[in-house]
Amino acid sequence: MHPLRRVLRAHRCLRWRPLASVSWLLLRTCRASCNLSSTTCPSPERQQEHGVQKDFSSRLATGPTFQHFLRNASVPQENLSSLDVEDPPPYLTVDQLLGRQRKVYLETYGCQMNVNDTEIAWSILQKSGYLRTNNLQEADVILLVTCSIREKAEQTIWNRLHQLRALKTKRPRSRVPLRIGILGCMAERLKEEILNREKIVDILAGPDAYRDLPRLLAVAESGQQAANVLLSLDETYADIMPVQTSPSATSAFVSIMRGCDNMCSYCIVPFTRGRERSRPVASIVEEVRKLSEQVLQLIHERDNICKQIHVPAQSGSSRVLEAMRRGYSREAYVELIHHIRESIPGVSLSSDFIAGFCGETEEDHLQTVSLLREVQYNMGFLFAYSMRQKTRAYHRLKDDVPEEVKLRRLEELITVFRKEATKANKTSVGCTQLVLVEGHSKRSSTDLCGRNDGNLKVIFPDVEIEDVTNSGLRVRAQPGDYVLVKITSASSQTLKGHVLCRTTLKGSSAYC
Ligand code: 5AD
Repeated sequence: MHPLRRVLRAHRCLRWRPLASVSWLLLRTCRASCNLSSTTCPSPERQQEHGVQKDFSSRLATGPTFQHFLRNASVPQENLSSLDVEDPPPYLTVDQLLGRQRKVYLETYGCQMNVNDTEIAWSILQKSGYLRTNNLQEADVILLVTCSIREKAEQTIWNRLHQLRALKTKRPRSRVPLRIGILGCMAERLKEEILNREKIVDILAGPDAYRDLPRLLAVAESGQQAANVLLSLDETYADIMPVQTSPSATSAFVSIMRGCDNMCSYCIVPFTRGRERSRPVASIVEEVRKLSEQVLQLIHERDNICKQIHVPAQSGSSRVLEAMRRGYSREAYVELIHHIRESIPGVSLSSDFIAGFCGETEEDHLQTVSLLREVQYNMGFLFAYSMRQKTRAYHRLKDDVPEEVKLRRLEELITVFRKEATKANKTSVGCTQLVLVEGHSKRSSTDLCGRNDGNLKVIFPDVEIEDVTNSGLRVRAQPGDYVLVKITSASSQTLKGHVLCRTTLKGSSAYC
């Protein structure tokens, strides 16, 4: 048996499904050392082939070890930096691994996982010194993040490659050669078939091989095709913070797992994305935390987003919060409130509270009263607990707070909330606030109603006003207009004032 084949057989002993990919990876890109395989999985023919192997080994002595190509799979990923540029493979220099300002154009096909994969791939390349372009003509590297779920999905990619061929062949010699890569499921499923069928493809990277992109691109730089379609049992890219590819996107995906073990009889996914594995909870939490931070930052920065956040506490007692299974303590909640207030000075806060939940004692209730005092919400929604069938509380807990006690506690909460909210809202009296007009007041047709930047209702007489952006024009404010209102009084629910002028969001000069 040829020594290389033996290497492949050996690795078939070591790993499960992705074996074809391991073997192929070896054949295609590496001059593998046989050490690892021959010790881990001895073969009966081993002795006879010793001479051939020795010769083979000595010829390849300067090449990378097989372990090198298993790096992602065998080293716990927490220990890996996202790019080991400090430690390049023996046949590349650190410099070759860097992007050198080459422009990457990424195109995503298929499912949400591919959107997330695109963000991961880009995060890795960005750290490696590549630039991003949304202009195909400008690109030095074109990467297609592909889908194999149905035949049509793959046909789309073949067609796309056909179109890209012209771009590659017509590229002027004055520019660096265009490199084209197939990433994701189709790379994993078809492997070398892609390279054989479409000679314009320079690199292949399966869903678990994105960390290897800088190396693959560096190999492609020398004009060789390069591929890594090794699947992993533990790669979750936990340490790589995805970079949202479209800054104007209105949503972001947080991936919590990769792969699939279901083996539905019609489905290719277990074969293209490999074994099911979950991302460590801490890394998911960290990503969500960063996203939340971005949201706070945006609310702080942008005038067209009102500075109000609803933070439903439900109770001020950690004991009750636990019984409610809310997942936070009073202390954690208060800490969050402080963080929000520091991030968005002047933010308006609202909350929901339930009075008389199962097992709530007088002491628990007083804790809620003290939370209302401590936070000083601007708006509140307070309810007496009513048992709902099918809920966990219905099955496991006792609705043991008598109705009259619930209502008495609710009244107390409402009184404290109103007192605190009135205090908080009164700080606006004397200020001139920017108000977005909603329409006439429900209570009086001679008044208009709008919302200030804290989403609080502002009532003011509907009178003719000057339009400051239209040099002195006299107008009546209409729904959707911005007006400046001088606040003259405040209650727990609303502010009242008189309207000064019509303005715009940009032209506004609200002051206190
Ligand atoms: N009893 C009383 N209030 C409830 N809420 C939800 N379920 C109940 C219930 N069974 C309140 C919570 C929630 C709001 C929408 O309604 O405060 O945040």
